[in-house]
Amino acid sequence: MDALTLLLNRRSASRLVEPAPSGEALQNIIRAGMRAPDHGTLEPWRFIIVEGEARHRFAEVLLKAALEEGKDESVQEKSKTGPLRAPMIIVVVAHCTEHPKVPHWEQVASASCAVQAMQMAAVAQDFGGIWRSGFWTENKTVREAFGCRELDEIVGFLYLGTPQVQPAKVKAPDTTPFVSYF
Ligand SMILES: Cc1cc2nc3c(=O)[nH]c(=O)nc-3n(C[C@H](O)[C@H](O)[C@H](O)COP(=O)(O)O)c2cc1C
Repeated sequence: MDALTLLLNRRSASRLVEPAPSGEALQNIIRAGMRAPDHGTLEPWRFIIVEGEARHRFAEVLLKAALEEGKDESVQEKSKTGPLRAPMIIVVVAHCTEHPKVPHWEQVASASCAVQAMQMAAVAQDFGGIWRSGFWTENKTVREAFGCRELDEIVGFLYLGTPQVQPAKVKAPDTTPFVSYF
C-alpha cells in the first residue's frame, strides 16, 4: 500500500480479533509513533501495551474509575467488557515536561500524532485499530495505573488487532467548505 492510498483511505476498525501485532510488526507500530513531529525532540510519549490477561486488569481499573465517578450500570458494564473488544490495547500517554519553548499543548499534540501514525502503521501491515478515549482518560485511578505524573495526559487507548470485517471505503470528501485562502 503506498503512502497516499493509506492517508486517503484510512479507516478505523472496531471489531478486532486475534492476531494482534507482535514482533517486528509491533516494533514498526511503535517506531512509527516515535516518528511523530516532536518540537525540541522531547519524545513526549509513553506506550503501555495491554494484551492477553492484562486486559482483565485494565478492565478492573476502568470499572473502579466508573464506580468512583458514579457512572450508571451501562458504563460499568462497558468498563468491564470494553478492553476485551480487541486482543491488544496500547495506552498512549503524553509524557509532558515544563519547557521554555515547547508548551504543554504541543507535547500533547505530538503524542496525539503518534497515535495516528501507529494506527496507520497497523493498517499498512494488514492489522486494524481504533482510537478510543472517554472519561477514563482523566480519572485519577486510571492515570495512576499508567504512571501519569501531574503534567502527563492519557491521549488515548489504541485498540489493535485483525479486523473481523473490512471497514467500508470512504468517499473522497468535498474539501471546499473547510479550505480558504488568506
Ligand atoms: C482523541 C480521540 C478520541 C476518540 N475516542 C473515541 C471513543 O472513545 N469511542 C469511539 O467510538 N470513537 C472514538 N474516537 C473516534 C474513532 O477513533 C474513529 O475515528 C471514528 O469512529 C471514525 O472512524 P474512522 O476513523 O474510520 O473515520 C476518537 C477519536 C479521537 C481522535
